[in-house]
Amino acid sequence: MSRKLTSAESAGIRGALTPSGGDTWSTNALAGAGAGEAGAGEAGAAAEVGTGWAAEVRRLAAERDAVILAHNYQAPEIQDVADHVGDSLALARLAATSDAGTIVLAGVFFMAETAKILSPGRTVLIPDRNAGCSLADSITVAQLRDWKAGHPDAVVVAYVNTSAEVKAESDICCTSANAVEVVAAIPAERPVLFLPDQFLGAHVRRATGRANLHVWLGECHVHAGISPDDLRRKATDVMTSELFIHPECGCATSALWQAGTGDLPRARVLSTGGMLAAAREVSGGTVVVATETGMLHQLRRANPAVRWEPANDRAVCRYMKMTTPAALLRCLRDGVDEVRVDPAVAARARRAVEAMIAVGTPSAVAE
Ligand code: 13P
Ligand code: SF4
Repeated sequence: MSRKLTSAESAGIRGALTPSGGDTWSTNALAGAGAGEAGAGEAGAAAEVGTGWAAEVRRLAAERDAVILAHNYQAPEIQDVADHVGDSLALARLAATSDAGTIVLAGVFFMAETAKILSPGRTVLIPDRNAGCSLADSITVAQLRDWKAGHPDAVVVAYVNTSAEVKAESDICCTSANAVEVVAAIPAERPVLFLPDQFLGAHVRRATGRANLHVWLGECHVHAGISPDDLRRKATDVMTSELFIHPECGCATSALWQAGTGDLPRARVLSTGGMLAAAREVSGGTVVVATETGMLHQLRRANPAVRWEPANDRAVCRYMKMTTPAALLRCLRDGVDEVRVDPAVAARARRAVEAMIAVGTPSAVAE
């Protein structure tokens, strides 16, 4: 018998800061077509696997002494078979503290690189090394060096959605779960270069009130594609009582403003882990969620009494969906794709990543 699987669905900071290099810079062309690309790389649609698939994954993981860490945007079957499911900050912390011989990162490449940077002595595998990130691609290390050269006194804060080389040129990393705390802990007189996400940067500027925060004009094609119109239309259609919005979304600023004027219901800007924690506190009704649709699986599990609706059901990250059931099986069986980071680059990047994981409260994680 087989079943059909669908694939849709600061104390430490100051010490870590060294002088480094507002203006706003432009970005490279971004990959992908925005939140309308569902199906483009959506794990190749359905995968046919035997009922023993999950048992075989667990057997191979035990044989390899591997821990499987999955991001909240992974397909439901991948989330369900993983040891831990969480946001990018939680996955980095788990990678740093894991005692497993092998870490399988069911997510995108920068997450696996981050795990390798934090755990250089362990084998780190990713089911498909082509699982990139349009946001990480929106700044190169050469562009960062040029930007720094124009701001020699600035502190460089890099979102974790960046390459290892960009992290190595940065003073501290952050995720959407702790970006505000990271920036708030930087001495007020120091200018900050915040990269690469312009919408997260706008959120941090709003939350900290910091005028000397210079933001790179990068974006995630999935989140930037969730428009204010999508949000408003959906909120009206389903008579939502609340909005959960990821800070990478292009609609976040207008949603907060409209919630303030009473044109939209309460809107909260949350990382994926923040959404999971907040989901447990919602008493009922309908919540519209503006982020990649994989998040809905965890939200529905966390609080089935609530109706969870995507702001845009085409907001699917094709890179996240490259972790198919077949790819995960191949990864564990054959030990591929192994992620390596140049040791000199990793050593420089580690300072920034370790400073990141020291900041903020633990994110909600599902086992
Ligand atoms: P989180 O840090 O909220 O998990 O988001 C990661 C990401 O890639 C968002 O697109
Ligand atoms: Fe990158 Fe966007 Fe995909 Fe997240 S959703 S991994 S930011 S492309």
